[in-house]
This record gives sequence, C-alpha cells and structure tokens, in this order.
Amino acid sequence: MEHPIIAILGGTGKEGTGLALRWAAAGYPVVIGSRELEKASQAAENINLMLGVKTVRGKKNIDAAKAADICVLTVIQSAHNETLDNIKGVLEGKILIDATSRVDYRDPKPPSPPSAGQQAQEILGASVRVVAAFQNVPAKLLSKGIGQPLDADVLVCTDDLEAAQQVIRLIEAAGMRGYYAGGLENATVVEGMTSILISMNKHYGLKDASIKVAGIPSA
Ligand SMILES: NC(=O)c1ccc[n+]([C@@H]2O[C@H](COP(=O)([O-])OP(=O)(O)OC[C@H]3O[C@@H](n4cnc5c(N)ncnc54)[C@H](OP(=O)(O)O)[C@@H]3O)[C@@H](O)[C@H]2O)c1
Repeated sequence: MEHPIIAILGGTGKEGTGLALRWAAAGYPVVIGSRELEKASQAAENINLMLGVKTVRGKKNIDAAKAADICVLTVIQSAHNETLDNIKGVLEGKILIDATSRVDYRDPKPPSPPSAGQQAQEILGASVRVVAAFQNVPAKLLSKGIGQPLDADVLVCTDDLEAAQQVIRLIEAAGMRGYYAGGLENATVVEGMTSILISMNKHYGLKDASIKVAGIPSA
C-alpha cells in the first residue's frame, strides 16, 4: 500500500523537524508547513540533504494541509487556535494529529481542560478526525538515531478508533510504540504528563525524559 502524504504544520520547529526526519527516513512523503514558503522550502531541503532523499517538500501551512492525507500540528502552543482557524476549510475527512502540550517549560504546571485536541475539534468541526499524540516525546529524542527504534511510547487519544489505528501505524513507522489511551478528553492528562517530564528533566539534569507503558503486551 502506498504511504500517505504527511504534512507537518509548523514543521520548521524542533518537534516537527524530529517527526519529519523519522517519517522521511521511513519512506513517507512529507510536506513541511510554515507561515513562510521560503522557510518551509529551506527546512525541507535540509532534511532531504541530511537523509539523501527527495521526498520532502516545503509549503505554506494552508497549502501543506491541502496537499496532505494526514496533518500533524506542531506550531508553538500560543499559535494553536489561530493556525487551526486559518486551515479549517481544507481538512474535511482528514486526520489532524495534535502534538500540542500546553505546558511552559520555565514553570511546568498541568493544564486545564478542555485539552488542546478538544479545542482543535471544536474549531475544525466534526468532519475532521482529530487525534492527540506525541505530547510526551521530546524533540531532542526524536532527532537521535534516525531510522533506529526509540525508547519511548506514545499515548494516542481520540474519539475515532479507526483514526487511532492509522496514527499508531505512523508512530510505529517513526520507531516508537503507540497505544490507544481513550478519548480526546484524556489528552489533557497526557499534556499534564509533560509537566511531570519537564520537572523530572530539571531534577535529574536531563533533556529527553519520556514515557513507557507497562503491562500491555505488543500486538
Ligand atoms: N519541543 C518538544 O520537545 C515538544 C515535545 C512534544 C510536543 N511538543 C509540542 O510541539 C509544538 C511545537 O513545539 P516546538 O518546541 O517544536 O516549537 P518551536 O520549535 O518553538 O516552534 C514550532 C513552530 O511554530 C511556528 N510558529 C511560531 N510562532 C508562530 C505563530 N505566531 N503562528 C504560527 N506559527 C508559529 C514556527 O514555524 P514558522 O515560523 O515556520 O511558521 C516554528 O517553527 C508545541 O505545541 C509543543 O507543545 C514539543
């Protein structure tokens, strides 16, 4: 089966670049989205050069969303709602993966409901299949050992089980294990886990603490 085209909106940033590198290395066509075409194209070219591929393109966020089968949102948290407002007309029937964690690393605190994913669903409407994932996967970890498995698991929250399965396949392609973790409402808790991980990083002098699930055998 042909791989879906993945657009990463805000893909010029740390988390988006890490995900783009992993999917491009796994053979997926990737579109890097940005507010600026030139910045997107440069970021895409950097990834192509790094991996020796030609499958990564750069586009403005709206055009990236149009070109994609599946979109991933990795803009800074303060631009979450505005970015979704700008692209809401072009995502009908598509999966939008929301990686947003509303936690300030300088003063980590668990965020309040509704989750960023629920806010995305509210803005985009019921025809868009919103899935929250990757909030606990640090960008620094993603960029290490591209093409190798990562010692991190990903919790997947959505009200659309079929979309969850598709996202779990993408997580596996990126070298991690994905687990269905309940509806979009649960994503507030997953975002809150980031507050815990940042606190642990500070305490232990690290940068890439993440999570692993125990007690569920691999499929
Ligand atoms: N960093 C991590 O380790 C990590 C881990 C898990 C989840 N996340 C989540 O991933 C998201 C991105 O985090 P990050 O650390 O990758 O952020 P980042 O590198 O600081 O920024 C990501 C991108 O946001 C875009 N952006 C900045 N200001 C914007 C604005 N006013 N409007 C629209 N877009 C704007 C920029 O893209 P352009 O300038 O190209 O438009 C930038 O490249 C956040 O929601 C965060 O919670 C991050």
